[in-house]
Amino acid sequence: MNIEELHNRVESGIASVKTIEDLKGFKLVLLGRKGLFAEYLDGLKSLNKEERKDFGREINSLKSETEGRLKGLEDHFAEEERKREQERSWIDITMPGKIPLTGRKHPITQTFDEIIRIFSSLGFSVAEGPEVETEHYNFEALNIPKDHPARDMQDTFYIEPGIVLRTHTSPMQIRVMESQLPPVRVIVPGAVYRCDHDVSHTPMFHQVEGLLVDKGVRFSDLKGILTVFIHEMFGPDTPVRFRPSYFPFTEPSAEIDIGCVICAGDGCRLCKETGWLEILGSGMVHPQVLRGVGYDPEEVSGFAFGMGVERIAMLRFGIDDIRQFYYHDTRFLSQF
Ligand code: PHE
Repeated sequence: MNIEELHNRVESGIASVKTIEDLKGFKLVLLGRKGLFAEYLDGLKSLNKEERKDFGREINSLKSETEGRLKGLEDHFAEEERKREQERSWIDITMPGKIPLTGRKHPITQTFDEIIRIFSSLGFSVAEGPEVETEHYNFEALNIPKDHPARDMQDTFYIEPGIVLRTHTSPMQIRVMESQLPPVRVIVPGAVYRCDHDVSHTPMFHQVEGLLVDKGVRFSDLKGILTVFIHEMFGPDTPVRFRPSYFPFTEPSAEIDIGCVICAGDGCRLCKETGWLEILGSGMVHPQVLRGVGYDPEEVSGFAFGMGVERIAMLRFGIDDIRQFYYHDTRFLSQF
């Protein structure tokens, strides 16, 4: 029995193992049921008792030594595979992340927020009211008589006789005053509706109404508060102009213009060559309106104002078509 030969075959076999597959094959050749060691152990049968003992010991010790070495190789290949896997799944944590698309506030909402922020800082509270209104609150209580042109079917959406979509936020002047005694200092943001549609009109748009009623409120208070508002909204150097106007529910009334944000007063298409842009309607609350809600015009006085939010947003952001606000085009909206 040539143990030397077995030794050599183990050595040369192990030396030729390069991969885990080689190892598996070689393991079978050596240690399988019909492998080399089995063959040698089988060969012991033909030996006498003495020889069998000596060879048996030698073969078995070589066998367990070989098993140990093969196990070592197996561990080595497993470790190499683990390293390769680690490299495959390596993550570069220094790569810039993907920025998720997030929503943002609509420019109209942003403008509302800014208007509300400014008036809150001046002590105004915020109220909201119904968009479906009675003719009484939308017109009569505001001193707009039945035959007034503002009631024209072309301007007002009627829901049913006597019920309209509010054409302005002014009906909330009445609702607020009916629900509390002076002093009143409130703004009312909300949607309003008029039957109109072109580059500067949408059938639904937004207003912010303002109302301040107290003892001894004068036109100079209106001018002061609204000048502060405009300078906060459009910058401290913005020119402001109060221009006499008419609203049935205020007397006297004024429209307020700011110096054109495009041409700075030189005259352009936006300001129709006047150098001024109208942004607000305002006036001293009409005594008739005060009486209507049970206030005594001899005791208290006040001013009211209303502004178009889309108009203010267009001027702030330089947008020239009001309909852009309602196309829901994210390429447009994501700019603000
Ligand atoms: N309600 C008026 C409008 O929609 C604006 C306004 C409000 C004017 C308050 C004066 C006082 O045109």
